[in-house]
Amino acid sequence: MPIVEVVDLFKRYGDVPAVDHIGFVVESGEVFGILGPNGAGKTTTLEIMEGLRRPDGGRAVVDGVDVQHHPREVRSRIGMQLQQAGFFERLTVDETLQLFAAFHRRALPVSDVIHRLQLDEKRRARVDTLSGGQLQRLSVAVALINDPRIVFLDEPTTGLDPQARRALWEVIGSFRREGRTVILTTHYMEVIRTHAPGTTVSVLLGGGQVRFDVLPGVQTVQQANGEVILLTSDPLGTVHALMELNRSGEAIFQQLRVEEATLEDVFLQLTGRRLRE
Ligand SMILES: Nc1ncnc2c1ncn2[C@@H]1O[C@H](COP(=O)(O)OP(=O)(O)OP(=O)(O)O)[C@@H](O)[C@H]1O
Ligand SMILES: [Mg+2]
Repeated sequence: MPIVEVVDLFKRYGDVPAVDHIGFVVESGEVFGILGPNGAGKTTTLEIMEGLRRPDGGRAVVDGVDVQHHPREVRSRIGMQLQQAGFFERLTVDETLQLFAAFHRRALPVSDVIHRLQLDEKRRARVDTLSGGQLQRLSVAVALINDPRIVFLDEPTTGLDPQARRALWEVIGSFRREGRTVILTTHYMEVIRTHAPGTTVSVLLGGGQVRFDVLPGVQTVQQANGEVILLTSDPLGTVHALMELNRSGEAIFQQLRVEEATLEDVFLQLTGRRLRE
């Protein structure tokens, strides 16, 4: 049974549809990513699932509870990290987590949560003295404090340097190993790269006319300044066909590179847009 079910969800702000009839299912124990450009409606979708915003249509069921009818019940079962977390500047890290712990019927030991998010050194530091990355980790700590089965994270890795980002992906991975379900939005999708279907084959076209879209396995073709990037489900077949074209003189390729597709490639394939567009 899915732990989250979203059906035909719709939300508009004035005339602007922010969430346009979307639906998806999240299985228990899954790390589920919501990917989209700025303004796509990711935060709005999350906030509806968290019981913080009312949809104009459709429904969301979280852990068997209809969010629209029982938002408080849902909020007691989930952990949430908000994109714009507001903390009391004059409280310390420790006090902040104590405060959030007090909001809940049950809570993990604050020191454990501090340790997991690698904030031990900042335990007694005031929130207004934290760096951006430390604040970000504090907001994830808040999402964990009530020991939730489902954790919602809105852009948890934004503003983190690569090392801190990897560390946070580790933490998110550990949530999953503990049996929690994680629903997150992010632009940094390298962690999901391993799940992204396909491979990219890139060539520098030195001459000739080629219809790349008919080559074996090719799903999308991006072409700019002589560089051609092919997203393919059959990298060997694609490379073989390219070699054949090169050999027969139909085309001249100056470079060839084979890489695992990033989620950016997959996103482009699905939407025809780059992430930042
Ligand atoms: N409270 C609001 N009132 C009016 N419009 C809003 C409000 N909140 C969001 N919007 C609009 O709804 C759309 C979706 O916004 P949302 O914050 O859900 O996007 P997002 O995908 O989370 O973007 P980002 O990647 O920048 O965080 C945007 O066009 C935004 O301007
Ligand atoms: Mg957002």
